[in-house]
Amino acid sequence: MKKILITGGVGFIGSHVTISLLEKNYDVVIIDSFLNSSKSFYLRMIELINSINPLFKKNLHLYEGDIRNSHFLEKIFLDAKKENKLIEGVIHLAGLKSVKESVNFPLNYWNCNLIGAIRLLEAMDKFNCHCLIFSSSATIYGKNQNLLINEISNINPINPYGFTKATIEFMLQNLFESDKQKWQIANLRYFNPIGAHSSGLIGENPKGMPNNVFPLINKVASREIKKLKIFGNDWNTNDGTCIRDFIHIMDLADGHIMALEYFLNMKNSKFLNLNLGTGKPTSVLELVKTFQKINNVEVPYDFVNRREGDVDRIVADNELAKKTLNWEPKRKISDMCSDGWKWHSNIKNFC
Ligand SMILES: NC(=O)c1ccc[n+]([C@@H]2O[C@H](COP(=O)([O-])OP(=O)(O)OC[C@H]3O[C@@H](n4cnc5c(N)ncnc54)[C@H](O)[C@@H]3O)[C@@H](O)[C@H]2O)c1
Repeated sequence: MKKILITGGVGFIGSHVTISLLEKNYDVVIIDSFLNSSKSFYLRMIELINSINPLFKKNLHLYEGDIRNSHFLEKIFLDAKKENKLIEGVIHLAGLKSVKESVNFPLNYWNCNLIGAIRLLEAMDKFNCHCLIFSSSATIYGKNQNLLINEISNINPINPYGFTKATIEFMLQNLFESDKQKWQIANLRYFNPIGAHSSGLIGENPKGMPNNVFPLINKVASREIKKLKIFGNDWNTNDGTCIRDFIHIMDLADGHIMALEYFLNMKNSKFLNLNLGTGKPTSVLELVKTFQKINNVEVPYDFVNRREGDVDRIVADNELAKKTLNWEPKRKISDMCSDGWKWHSNIKNFC
């Protein structure tokens, strides 16, 4: 049984990747500081694991702490070494992700995202672990005129968050090129992950007021917010609202497992940039309408002015990820809406 470290494993993406890893019989070590997650959410993860197979629980280990603390990180690699079960790969998700917050507090973002990545890489190198899956973002492409964005499109971030992700990618490339026999690195560039595990036991649970459209739709549907603001109905799109590439969180989780297994089976060093999106355009208005229809709920909305920094269309060319990993996103927008709402309707019982 291979041991995998997942940083930020109690977060939105980390929790779903953790469940998928356990189901594939991996031993999973989570690091999380609980900065943007909670112990009660971790208990929900345990509840879900128990409902799938109680035996999986013994393969899950949690370390609470900050990845910028080298001593803490090294202890985790050392504990694994003492057990004679080395950490064979790392999925690095711990970081800050709010575009808006990054504009107001750029130093926090550079500190957490960049220093966190550096400390993690130092510890990995020290303990001879050179297989890394990194949580990058479509945000690094910035304003892009292409209908579908592929991996060789310009890297042109327009906010501090995007700059931290792009900088980490450049740093990883430097590291790879410093010794081309050593590292296996995949930058997974996520488009718009939404939805939740189909059990409704885990999902996205942002602290404070979310910035992203899907958690906001849920909050409007549950009457926590009166109306959804849709930023602009005069974009150059069919219905005038922005077009995005929404991907089900479980399809995104599958992409991580397949990237990891691609490396573990291959053994050779490799550097990959891969878009994880569906390649299918969905407008914000289409998303709202599907959500209302499939869940039989109302989501009142107003059109307001365009938001600074938005672009009309961001859709992935995902051919490279599909071909390289033999990965295929399977779930539809209606699945994303129903699974997401199932989780949201449960939050009050859980957190
Ligand atoms: N969710 C998205 O839409 C999206 C899109 C593109 C990229 N990403 C990236 O994917 C990663 C995971 O995203 P998410 O949506 O799960 O975010 P999240 O905030 O739900 O999860 C991140 C987790 O990392 C933890 N964490 C933060 N800083 C830490 C630190 N220094 N040490 C230890 N733990 C720390 C938080 O407590 C949280 O549990 C992030 O790096 C994010 O930038 C997310």
